[in-house]
Amino acid sequence: QSAARLALRADLLDFRGDPGWSPEPGTAVRFRPDHWLLVEQGRIVGTLPGEEPPGDDWLRLDRRGRLLMPGFIDTHVHAPQLDVIASFGTQLLEWLETYTFPAEQRYADPGVAAEGAARFCDALVAHGTTSAVVFPTVHRASAEALLAAAHERGMRLIAGKVLMDRHAPPALTDTVDSAERDSRELIARWHGAGRLAYAMTVRFAPTSTPAQMAMAGRLMREVPDLYMQTHVAENRAEVAWVAELFPQARSYLDVYHGFGLLTPRAVLAHGIWLDDADRALLAHTGAHIAHCPTSNLFLGSGLLDWRRLEAQGASVSMATDVGGGTSLSMQRTLAEAYKVQALQGVRLPAWKALYTATLGAARCLHLDGEIGSLEPGRVADVCVWDWASGPVDSHRLSLGRQLHEKVFAWMTLSDERHLVEAYVAGHRRCARPQPPQPTG
Ligand code: GUN
Ligand code: ZN
Repeated sequence: QSAARLALRADLLDFRGDPGWSPEPGTAVRFRPDHWLLVEQGRIVGTLPGEEPPGDDWLRLDRRGRLLMPGFIDTHVHAPQLDVIASFGTQLLEWLETYTFPAEQRYADPGVAAEGAARFCDALVAHGTTSAVVFPTVHRASAEALLAAAHERGMRLIAGKVLMDRHAPPALTDTVDSAERDSRELIARWHGAGRLAYAMTVRFAPTSTPAQMAMAGRLMREVPDLYMQTHVAENRAEVAWVAELFPQARSYLDVYHGFGLLTPRAVLAHGIWLDDADRALLAHTGAHIAHCPTSNLFLGSGLLDWRRLEAQGASVSMATDVGGGTSLSMQRTLAEAYKVQALQGVRLPAWKALYTATLGAARCLHLDGEIGSLEPGRVADVCVWDWASGPVDSHRLSLGRQLHEKVFAWMTLSDERHLVEAYVAGHRRCARPQPPQPTG
């Protein structure tokens, strides 16, 4: 569907600000049961109560009794790792060597890269995720394919060729010079094209030489609004290795800082094993942590101290980290985030969780003028969800008295099977197959 004027009737949920850690729905939570969301030329232009439909010059789609939210934003995910999702029995460094590095080598082939990129972008949308910050592989063709696939679909995507010039198989390494050349060409072609932005993508400190990270820092200073994405302090053996490789750095995070890579557009996955000085450095530089709960539990990495990051002024977004993570579903990710906090005696309300996966992420990426809410002027990246899809969640939701109880149960029990349809810039990109209509 790509009507110039589109109206969607559903229960609208979005956020006006950070709801904090209370389950009470304060002023940051905006729930408008049975409303029309008005979309014109791909942008949200307003809302109307359900009983006041817009005129006949609007294509009206009645999704009454369903939930409509801004599309989710996954701030850290690896496109080629759909090939290794759910791989058995290892922690980070062994997992990279055993599963991930071998799988990523196939993406040197432009055909494999194009097929993988299309599969990945379609899968994101089919999980209700309309924007993402994404790793392809070291191969230029894989970055090219990923950016092209997102561009074709009109998706807001941030990505860049992976930089790795050591401690990886030869088929997965570049050099400082080739990395700079490829990055510059990809930036010229894609940075700011449509809804795309380029990210300097240092895989992690162990796989880049100091010279390569210095090159990345130079480009960050040279090209306005470049993003940076990497991993930090995910696993204890990894942290120990970084300490050996960079004895002069105060900490793992400080390695990146030393090369000028910590900017307000830097997205660092994990951040489990940080100290107070690191958290203060994040706050000071404006770099933020992408929390990856399904990955952190699956790879046995550890538990993120989210409250402490926030208390020290650092920001947190939400990410699947597939294929270390075990699902592209943001609801599943949020349900695991709840458990990661529960293990630390902290209660994560549905409001805080859903905010973090929408407006919170948009703010971390400085894209809240474009995505993350249903505010007029935002691009219409929105998803319609079933509140329930089976007897167990139907039953549980029917007993929910307070709004938080109902939304929390939805967040905890739902996944991509609840997605009815996803719109990217007002275009319907994903619709659940409808049961066959009787004919004759
Ligand atoms: N650290 C370096 N590379 C990776 C990766 O691909 N996944 C995760 N989870 N951590 C990493
Ligand atoms: Zn990752």
